[in-house]
Amino acid sequence: MTTYLSGIQPSGLPHLGNYFGAIRQHIALSQQGGDNFYFIADYHALTTNRDPAELRTRVREVALTYLALGLDTEKATFFRQSDVPEVCELSWLLSTVTGMGLLERAVSYRDKVERGITATVGLFTYPALMSADILAYDSNFVPVGADQKQHVEIARDMAQSFNAAYGETFVLPEATLSPTAKVPGIDGQKMSKSYGNSIWVFETGKPLKKIVGQVLTDSRAPEEPKDPAGVLLLELLRLFLSPTEQADWEERVRRGGEGAPGYGHLKVRLVECIEEHFRPARERRAALLADPAEVERVLAKGAERARARAVATRDRALRNCGLR
Ligand code: ADP
Ligand code: TRP
Repeated sequence: MTTYLSGIQPSGLPHLGNYFGAIRQHIALSQQGGDNFYFIADYHALTTNRDPAELRTRVREVALTYLALGLDTEKATFFRQSDVPEVCELSWLLSTVTGMGLLERAVSYRDKVERGITATVGLFTYPALMSADILAYDSNFVPVGADQKQHVEIARDMAQSFNAAYGETFVLPEATLSPTAKVPGIDGQKMSKSYGNSIWVFETGKPLKKIVGQVLTDSRAPEEPKDPAGVLLLELLRLFLSPTEQADWEERVRRGGEGAPGYGHLKVRLVECIEEHFRPARERRAALLADPAEVERVLAKGAERARARAVATRDRALRNCGLR
């Protein structure tokens, strides 16, 4: 059976980019069958977060997000990374067959240090822990954003080195990139928490109108014919509209003239779309928020299933390298 796995950093409220670029794929893959593992990368979060209360809240927010958006936790194993401590053990074993150069070439370490994140040993060996996450569950495919592709390649290299030294132990993983590569933010740059240009998935009412009101436009009149490709609002609407409705708006924008939609019309439609699309998820989130024991129960069930797999892999690795 094909195994899919991905980890999600607990880094704050989810935005449209996180949903259309990642979460939606994880939910869809689980529905297709196969073996699916999705986890909250809380060990990894310690490389950037030193506030325990904040970390707890963020972990819970990721759990609420996935459950509210409809991840079926019977079909997918959904868990907290730190509930499977065997990955730390595997990370050590992998680090002993890994040349320093491999991690020195990791782009994300250098990027993070340049952005002012403290250059700890943990930040440097982050890809070894991520490799352990991937290899512990015999993952075949790892659905991630482009920024994580190099880390999956490192995992593959580490698996190959271990297998070369000790015989077949780890399955070689491959990264799969999301079909929605880049959701733009309200300023037209890539939507990202760090750019302050995000629309939160669970936003509603006045705050939603306010943020959509800030989507970048220009001063051209509605009557002026425009190339739809240059209209940011249409790019955001495409995430929600049927192909027929999308084509209709684009045609009217292209034609211009009397009755052509102004940016205000597009904003009203975008607010409606976001409200409608995420309404069921907002309601489920509210219900889960009132029932923390249910969220814990789901995570505990996931941890049990994940751990069984990771223990088997850990035992195989220990045996093969001579520690058993
Ligand atoms: P952020 O850039 O807001 O910090 P993360 O790096 O935590 O987001 O990304 C979490 C997941 O969401 C990753 O799989 C990433 O590829 C995806 N993602 C984030 N922003 C976007 C975007 N604007 N468009 C598409 N996917 C995105
Ligand atoms: N490093 C990933 C990120 O920042 C999170 C992550 C940790 C991960 N372990 C993983 C992703 C294993 C995929 C597979 O987004």
